[in-house]
Order: sequence, then C-alpha cells, then structure tokens
Amino acid sequence: MRGHEVSGAAETIEAAPAKINLALHVTGQRADGYHLLETLVTFTEAGDTIRIRNADADSFSISGPFGDLLRAGDGGDNLVTRAKDLLRDALASTGQPAPPVAIHLEKNLPVASGIGGGSADAAATLRGLLRHWRAAIAPDTLAPMALTLGADVPMCLESRSLIARGIGEDIEPLTDLPELSMVLANPMKAVSTPEIFRRLQNKANPRLPTPATIGWMDFLAQSRNDLQPPAQALLPEIAEITGLLSEEGAALVRMSGSGATCFGIFHSFDAAKNAETSLRKKRPGWYFQATRTI
Ligand code: C5P
Repeated sequence: MRGHEVSGAAETIEAAPAKINLALHVTGQRADGYHLLETLVTFTEAGDTIRIRNADADSFSISGPFGDLLRAGDGGDNLVTRAKDLLRDALASTGQPAPPVAIHLEKNLPVASGIGGGSADAAATLRGLLRHWRAAIAPDTLAPMALTLGADVPMCLESRSLIARGIGEDIEPLTDLPELSMVLANPMKAVSTPEIFRRLQNKANPRLPTPATIGWMDFLAQSRNDLQPPAQALLPEIAEITGLLSEEGAALVRMSGSGATCFGIFHSFDAAKNAETSLRKKRPGWYFQATRTI
C-alpha cells in the first residue's frame, strides 16, 4: 500500500510517486494543438507526499527541499487545490460529504522537470481525499476530471507501469515490466512544456515498438524520447547530464517527459546509489536521486 492512515491522528498520507517516461514517441497532433503520444511510463519510490487532516477551514501548506521553488511559481499549489475543489464539487452532486481539510505537500521532486511533479501531486490529492472522506466516485467520472487538470494526471492516478496513448488519457496497464534501478538527474533548471512542444520539428514519428514482442532491453534500445532533441537545444545541460550518467556506467540514459530530468538505468540499486554519490560530488548544486520503480 502506498498510502496509509496514521491511526488515531486522523491524518491521511498519500504518496505522489515520480512519473518516468521510459519512452515517449510523438505520433501526431490534434486539431486543438495538443500532441498525440505513445509513451511507456513507470513510477518510482522517489516522490512527493500529500498529507490530509480534518480542519475548521480549508488550507494548503508546502514543505520539502523544493517547497520554496514551488511557492515562488504558480504551478503545483494551484493543481492541488484545484484537484480538491473539483473533487468536492463532483462529490456534492452525488450527496457525499467533503468537509474542510488541511492539505500539506512535501515537495521532494524538482519543479517543472518532466517527472510528474504537479500532475503527481494532483493525482495523489484526488486519491488521498477519496480515502480521507471515505468517498467513492465512478472511474469514468474520475479519469476525465483528472484530465482537465493536466494531460499527465490520469496516468499519475494509476501510478503503476503503463502505456499511455492519445494525449495521455488512453491508458493500458502493464504487469510484466521488471523492477528497474535508476538515478534521476536534474540540472536545477525548469523547462516549459509548451515551449518544448512548440520547438518540436517532427510531429509524426514512428509508433512505439510493442514491448511484449521484443523484450525489455531491446524495447528500450529501440525507443526514444522525441522531446529530447528540442529540450537539449534549449538547455545544453541536458546533454551534459546524459554524458555524466553514461560515465557512471548507466545501461540506458534518456530524458523523461519534456525534461529537464534525465534518468540512467543501472544494473542494481547499489550501482545506482554509488553513481548518485559520485554525481553529487561532481555537480554539488544539481539534483541526483537513486531510486527504484514501484
Ligand atoms: O496538459 P499539460 O498541462 O501537461 O500540458 C501543458 C502544455 O503542453 C499544453 O498546454 C500544450 O501546449 C502542451 N502539450 C501538448 N501535447 C500534449 C501535452 C501537452 O502539446 N500531449
């Protein structure tokens, strides 16, 4: 169980695992400008945490290593409170009570960095509040509601390995992805997702190979992140980071989402931890986190 309730304290704790796009192919564009994707997504032990308590009035607070960055921006805090407001409205229409709550976000993941962030927080808010309020909502109501918060929120609601198509709403869960150890690496520079999509040259790339027919390592070798070239052109540190991960012996190095976070897959968790230690010495101001898929 990722989330649990602390007995007696009436606090609901919900994990918001980081989202990793192991592969992301852009296969087309919708009439409204959104890009059609095929992406293999997994989630990690590393992530943010949402804590929910009963309160006299709604409130929202943030802590954690990246809390200050989030407060300075305009992203995740709004997504958490917007997720709460949307869910409360939907529950009201079914006559289910949704009393005031104090929501706390522990922000452990870098902000605007391609590994979920605000989307994971919004999804964890929805899951956590449903448990906290002991409420239920039909999946075919919840998923479209999540999609209005962001294209990645429905997949973050799942928080298990999956392939997503469309703009991320068409989800096929995967059960046979082996556990992967990896190091997440970010140069501490945020990138703008719309800007990366705008800079994308080729919008009709080949489809994702079918992982079940070719095996996982072949799949990873034959797949790509189509957003990596435009992101790298905007932020040269991405090339630097992939080089550093390769130097540490990563078996596969790639960018996640629209960046700038990259991941390096290692043969063991010990190897990933050693790489994390070495990388932190090489680039003290940057974010390096060894983790495993869940
Ligand atoms: O939905 P989300 O907030 O994650 O998307 C941010 C922006 O990224 C969108 O407004 C859109 O410009 C771009 N985007 C896109 N195609 C996608 C997802 C996002 O063009 N599939």
